[in-house]
Amino acid sequence: MKKLMYCCLAAAGLLASGALRGPLSAGEGFLFNGLLPAVSVPADNVQTDAKIRLGRQLYFDKRLSVDDTVSCATCHDPATGWAHHAPTDTGVKGQVGGRNSGSIIDAAYMKFQFWDGRAGSLEEQAVGPIANPIEMGEKLDNVVQKLNAIPGYKSQFQLVFGTDATADAIGKAIAAFERTIIAGPSPYDRYLQGDRRALTAAAVRGMDLFNGKGHCSACHSGPAFSDGGFHNLGVGYAGGKLKDEGRYAVTKDDRDMGAFKTPGLRNVAQTWPYLHDGSEKTLQDVIEFYDRGGVPNPHLDRLMLPLRLSRGEKADLLAFLNSLTGPVPEVGAPELPN
Ligand code: HEC
Ligand code: HEC
Repeated sequence: MKKLMYCCLAAAGLLASGALRGPLSAGEGFLFNGLLPAVSVPADNVQTDAKIRLGRQLYFDKRLSVDDTVSCATCHDPATGWAHHAPTDTGVKGQVGGRNSGSIIDAAYMKFQFWDGRAGSLEEQAVGPIANPIEMGEKLDNVVQKLNAIPGYKSQFQLVFGTDATADAIGKAIAAFERTIIAGPSPYDRYLQGDRRALTAAAVRGMDLFNGKGHCSACHSGPAFSDGGFHNLGVGYAGGKLKDEGRYAVTKDDRDMGAFKTPGLRNVAQTWPYLHDGSEKTLQDVIEFYDRGGVPNPHLDRLMLPLRLSRGEKADLLAFLNSLTGPVPEVGAPELPN
């Protein structure tokens, strides 16, 4: 306990002084944006090669949608940072949803899935879009039937799960695949490991702003740069009205009105546009948004205050955000079973 206390104080001290200079490892503090630990895997869904292969096929298979036009990869495309470069997404029958598709890179590290956190696990999340009338619009029972009518799928489900395809098994296989889409070491990580040349001087200054004057790490904390919490930044608030209730729709707690999940920031440079409604096009725009203190509204998070950053400071912060991009496994569409 004493040691733990010391670690926290030490980490807090490092943050306060902006003196993150030496090689540090994950777990040295709560706020500290250290290296990603190994992905934790639920006991009832262990990773196996056959399961990951099956999950990959399902991820890229449009037959999971009602009219065979949309797959997970349509909106979470490996070619565009496993996200989609559109403010909101078009699902089956050309229907447009109201939220930006988050990237699935490092989704395995998130305590909650979706902008409002309505799914807890990747397993639970994966079957959500299939039944969502705007996204894939198919009934889960129908997908299960469709897959069991495809011998190449039926035999794989038997091999991996010892059953025919079920909604539960579909969710597990896709989740196992998603747990392999993890960003590798970024320049920031290499810097933490002791390579002083991995970051430019501007990025190092940006890191100090991120932890200090900009207090970004108050919410974007931990190795994945998210506290796993929900905050109201005023995104989508106009004319006295919120467009989207966010977390409130899940908890019915007034404090959650207009609050959205703190997204992780690893590889964020690849996943424009930004915010839950895709309303900011570039990272520069997001920095300007924070500089203004977000959008004032009755539920605005207390941490959202105008930052009054200089032009140089904004450029430094941008350089730091750009240093968080690491290599992502190159995964293309597999051959699909018949
Ligand atoms: C029509 C576009 C579309 C399709 C198809 C789609 N998604 Fe999504 N996905 C979204 C949108 C939009 C969000 C954000 C919705 C929200 O938060 O309410 C999202 C959120 C997610 C998230 C959570 C990310 C986060 O940061 O919280 C994961 C994981 C995910 N989708 C995986 C999948 C998988 C797996 C499939 C296929 C079974 C799939 N998606 C199909 C658009 C789509
Ligand atoms: C009060 C908590 C909080 C603070 C402080 C904070 N963020 Fe955020 N950040 C969030 C939340 C919550 C969102 C999503 C909000 C939404 O879409 O409604 C977000 C979104 C973002 C995004 C968009 C990511 C994406 O995938 O769309 C970026 C980039 C970002 N923040 C960077 C920063 C930077 C840089 C700072 C410091 C200047 C900062 N944040 C300070 C909570 C915070």
